[in-house]
Amino acid sequence: MENNQEKKQTVLSLIQPTGTPTLGNYLGALKNWKNMSDSYDCFFGVADLHSITVRPNPADLRRRTTEMYALLLALGLDPHKNTVFVQSHVPAHAQLAWILDCYTQFGEASRMTQFKDKSEKHPDNVNVGLFAYPVLMAADILLYQTDFVPIGIDQKQHLEITRNIADRFNGLYGNTFKLPEPFIGKSGAKIMSLQEPTKKMSKSDTNPKAFISVLDDDNTIMKKIKSAVTDSEARVYRKDGKDGVNNLMGIYSCCTGKTDEEIEKEFDGKGYGDFKTAVGEAVCDELRPLREEYNRLIDDKAYLTECMKEGAEKASYTAERTLRKAMKKVGFLQI
Ligand code: TYM
Repeated sequence: MENNQEKKQTVLSLIQPTGTPTLGNYLGALKNWKNMSDSYDCFFGVADLHSITVRPNPADLRRRTTEMYALLLALGLDPHKNTVFVQSHVPAHAQLAWILDCYTQFGEASRMTQFKDKSEKHPDNVNVGLFAYPVLMAADILLYQTDFVPIGIDQKQHLEITRNIADRFNGLYGNTFKLPEPFIGKSGAKIMSLQEPTKKMSKSDTNPKAFISVLDDDNTIMKKIKSAVTDSEARVYRKDGKDGVNNLMGIYSCCTGKTDEEIEKEFDGKGYGDFKTAVGEAVCDELRPLREEYNRLIDDKAYLTECMKEGAEKASYTAERTLRKAMKKVGFLQI
């Protein structure tokens, strides 16, 4: 990744407003958004269009969109320097998604593992939106001529289909879209459930002890980490099969910047009790400033609305340029 001084490279990523993000969302994606925000031209958004595939209650959707937006600002993203926006405020996303739908094959969309998982989980509502979900995501990314997309590993396949769609379109009409690269961190790419560490940490888990929400208070965080599933060996080191310990080591490493070797040395001769206390404290220290800033911002609705408007304007400006280019290539009549 190189940076040239005149034109910064572009970074884009979105998150769905489907409830308070987990430590997984935070370490896998949001923390990297913040880290990249000074050196790149950044577009970060709340993917409210994506979230209606599960038909949320309208009042909940409005509230969660505002909450997620406040949380993005609470990360420390500067809404004037970066573009922080709500996806449905930028109509170009839905417009380009339709065009790209017509350049995506049924077969390739059927192979998306998230589509398969979600249709199995909710057999009563396998809607076309769920099927076309990755194409909307491709539109999100391609509209901004994005260089890097900071995401967790679960979204990697969606990045691949985005590149395939872009490549196909470029092949037919000449260079229109930049091919994006995923940006996946080393240790936070897949944070696992604290109760079943072979499963991804997810906010929709029915067991609240399985995940840490980024707004959990210190006490709750400590309790959840202390009750995390480990093993009977009582030795802190990384090894295949030690899923619970590997996960806690990953979390600790993301929060402190320590390497596996440093962590193994630090807890040499100590049991899981000491280790879990240290992990819990590191998570509390990491999330406390975010929670405090969020609590301050969420009461300032006027400020949030003002920032959303600015974000929508800036995002639309860039997105519409690409949309117009694509529409022209396809052959839509320009007036
Ligand atoms: P979403 O809202 O499910 O998750 C937001 C981000 O969090 C990451 N993530 C995790 N990372 C590590 N460990 C975990 N346990 C974990 N759980 C979630 C996700 O990989 C994601 O980066 N489709 C996307 C939202 C989206 C998007 C986009 C992303 C819409 N348009 C364009 C990038 C670019 C999603 O549902 O993420």
